[in-house]
Amino acid sequence: MTAKIILGTEVAKEIREELKKEVASLKEKHGITPGLVTILVGEDPASVSYVTGKQKTAKELAFHSLQDTQPADISEARLLELIDKYNRDKNIHGILVQLPLPKHINETRILYAIDPKKDVDGFHPVNLGKLMIGEADYLPCTPAGIQQLLIRAGVPIDGAEVVVVGRSNIVGKSIANILLQKAAGANATVTICHTRTRDLASHTRRADILIVAAGKPKAVTADMVRPGAAVIDVGVNRIGMTPEGKAKLCGDVDFEAVKEIASVITPVPGGVGPMTIIMLMANTVKAARLAAEKK
Ligand code: GUN
Repeated sequence: MTAKIILGTEVAKEIREELKKEVASLKEKHGITPGLVTILVGEDPASVSYVTGKQKTAKELAFHSLQDTQPADISEARLLELIDKYNRDKNIHGILVQLPLPKHINETRILYAIDPKKDVDGFHPVNLGKLMIGEADYLPCTPAGIQQLLIRAGVPIDGAEVVVVGRSNIVGKSIANILLQKAAGANATVTICHTRTRDLASHTRRADILIVAAGKPKAVTADMVRPGAAVIDVGVNRIGMTPEGKAKLCGDVDFEAVKEIASVITPVPGGVGPMTIIMLMANTVKAARLAAEKK
């Protein structure tokens, strides 16, 4: 059996069309245009590329979008001042500070400073806490995108054995919490594996849905996958350059071998990546709608 390949590029397009309608309706009914500011500190090439992608999509959706680029040596105090300015700006509904930040800036302090109502990344501890109790306004974008991919590809989640490889706050712990909720598109039995897990393969082989966010190429090989499993590859590993000077990417899953065993699988690039960006846009539209309803 060769797996069906779930293209995040296509699912993201579908969601983009839905969002366009919502943006038009917000404008018509409330005179509101969703506003998103992306703050980039320094010139890390991966961060520049992510932020450029986010700004491009925001413009395609006719958002009020603002790119605020700051030098790598900006002080933490100055960055906090900027966040405070955007927290008070009525035309800005979403604030995104691209991570990682330079070492002299305390990332946690910065994330705490963003108004949780404008935290469209879903990284603020208030929003992560709300996610845990099933009350989230904003889900972190990558796990929210994974859930949408599974739902829209028709993968049964209710009662499924989900195994997550990786325990980062933003991907591993968050997707586990999302799929664990007593809610539609969730209700799974979830196991989280990590670098200290004994016999990783004994866990991954039980998975109906295997979500891999290990940060390591070929962390999951074909012998670790149950035949017929749905495999979601969250890895983004840079493994050199194309002749055109673009970064060459691979995921955390041995795609060529695993696609012969799985029932559905996401590629890298073109799988989870485009979903992260579109869920950021969905969160920004939601932030604008919540602000409009509060008026
Ligand atoms: N760095 C890598 N991924 C992300 C993301 O989704 N949001 C932010 N703010 N920074 C990132």
